[in-house]
Amino acid sequence: TTSLPSLQAFVAELGLGPVPFFASADVLTDPMDLCHSYLAEHFQRLVEADPESVYKAIQPPSTIQDGDLDIVLPRLKLPGGRPKELAGELLIQIQPHALFGVPFQDGIHIRFFLSPKIIPRLFLPYISDRKPTYGIEKPRSLRDDPESRRKKVVVEFSSPNIAQDFTAGHLRSTILGAFVANMYEAVGWDVVRINFLGDWGKHLGLLGLGWQKYDSAHKVDDQTNLFRYIHDLYNKMEEELRPELEARKNARDTGQDATILELEGLFAERDATFKGMEDGEPGAIALWKKLRDITVEYYVETYGRLNLKFDEYSGESEVSLNPEAVVEVAAILESRGIYEEQDGAWVIDYEKYGTKLDKGIVRGRNGSTTYLLRDIATVFDRLKRHSFDKMIYVVCEQDVHFRQVFRAVELMGHPDIADKLEHITFAKASRRSSHLGDAQLLGDILDQREDFMREVVGTGPDEYHIEGGDAVAKAMGVSSLVVQELRSKKGHGNNTDLSLLALEGETGPDLLRCHARLCSALAGIGVNLKLEEIPHIDYSSLWAPPWCDLLRLMARYPGIIKSAFHTMDPATILTYLFQMVEEITSCLEEAEEDESGGEGSSVGSKYAARSVLYDSARQTLENGMKLLGITPIIN
Ligand code: ARG
Repeated sequence: TTSLPSLQAFVAELGLGPVPFFASADVLTDPMDLCHSYLAEHFQRLVEADPESVYKAIQPPSTIQDGDLDIVLPRLKLPGGRPKELAGELLIQIQPHALFGVPFQDGIHIRFFLSPKIIPRLFLPYISDRKPTYGIEKPRSLRDDPESRRKKVVVEFSSPNIAQDFTAGHLRSTILGAFVANMYEAVGWDVVRINFLGDWGKHLGLLGLGWQKYDSAHKVDDQTNLFRYIHDLYNKMEEELRPELEARKNARDTGQDATILELEGLFAERDATFKGMEDGEPGAIALWKKLRDITVEYYVETYGRLNLKFDEYSGESEVSLNPEAVVEVAAILESRGIYEEQDGAWVIDYEKYGTKLDKGIVRGRNGSTTYLLRDIATVFDRLKRHSFDKMIYVVCEQDVHFRQVFRAVELMGHPDIADKLEHITFAKASRRSSHLGDAQLLGDILDQREDFMREVVGTGPDEYHIEGGDAVAKAMGVSSLVVQELRSKKGHGNNTDLSLLALEGETGPDLLRCHARLCSALAGIGVNLKLEEIPHIDYSSLWAPPWCDLLRLMARYPGIIKSAFHTMDPATILTYLFQMVEEITSCLEEAEEDESGGEGSSVGSKYAARSVLYDSARQTLENGMKLLGITPIIN
């Protein structure tokens, strides 16, 4: 069913006419679109409206309890009569159709259930044909012309700062960013995942200074966790610097000249160390590189625990170490008169350009680059290297900063490029109320979760158990974190704590458990069918609920992915997956109950039918989980 000719042959065998064509239908990706097309074709005969608008007047009702497809009368804008009355009149004119049961009216809606007898024969071969690609859309351009270029998106996310804490904001950016990247991949884009490390700036001066001061090169050995070492070292240095920063602030507050204080102590040493890096002094750069390598090595491994891989660890250093990139941008800003000089600093006064964005500094008083300038230059640098069609920054807060970046790109004469840029933002989860406790390293956050899950698996209530030992605790830890982060829409921090409470309701481990139950039910049946056998099985045992309801829900998966792509809201997928869990659970319970009964030849086909159903349900669940960043446990 994966090509139009084979799909045509398949529907013919089911006794359906040729697949009707509608421009908005994705019949090769979405089996509900196929049903949708048949209904539109069928209904179109009764009304005077163009085919596409008939198609668009039909939608799946929000829950399967209300049916599978639904004609929303007002959308047709038919002349004469009120929609409600019209619905009644049209209802009696609708002829029977092999795909649908008898329609019924619900106010301004005419609702249809798919005919139970056709559901398994239609959906199971369709899903079995696609397996991991079920729900993944081929881009329109690829379908029409396989030669045409795929679109490319750069997704930048996570982006922690060297030696500093991995904050609640970084965590959410990581999990949400991974999801955004997966979604683009699912709809057929090429995706470049970039981690933009905070690897440039005075904090590297301070860290470098500490490394030398404490003779670190001779302190550390093979056993040292180098990343934790530099993290702690940095904290120590910040502590040591604090009195100087306070003295400086006091001086300022009392109207004294604070600059003199900047010429001495750690403050001056830090600045000198960073200046060495900025000036490209070989020793300073070698040290900087070492600190950066330690960081990247740690993160590559630690993101791996989340099954997350970046294509690129870039960072703020990139354009800083490549003066040309910055010079080019600075030259355009200058020639267009976009900034003004104030005490030697370059300042963009956004108010002047009619944007409520305050002022943005692109160059410091001492001539060094700023965060703003680095981000502006990075846009052009990445465009050169990746020629992206779109670039998305998944970053906690920083709205004003990104609006300043995008506006600057526009002011530089590139509104077309600015249009390709998007910032996906979210509110900060305050550390105290967040579930991170006082963990400061990503690895510690993950450890904490895993330890908790190990405890739960060992001692908690029975329903928390999944067979499989330590790998299970690990997977449960990650999944619980992912679901907790993704559940609260794109918004605000959640207050969920790390306790059994965190396991109540709809959680990551629930998804894993359901998946594992399906796997063992499948193993229990022990039937292994070939793909070509699947269309020809006797599915009559699946005509009734709960079986047919699970199938109807599975058929909605591609539509759910499509709509989640438009809103980029993971909650849409989560809600769907938990409905799946509910239906699957009903089926497994029903199966357990009738384990004793049944004899003869119908038993064999019943198990064959169930095994195809379980396998497709498992696959659908798995596809959705993977999009969210949850990897099922496969024993
Ligand atoms: N490293 C920054 C932070 O921790 C986030 C970087 C966001 N990305 C960017 N292109 N500015 O706050």
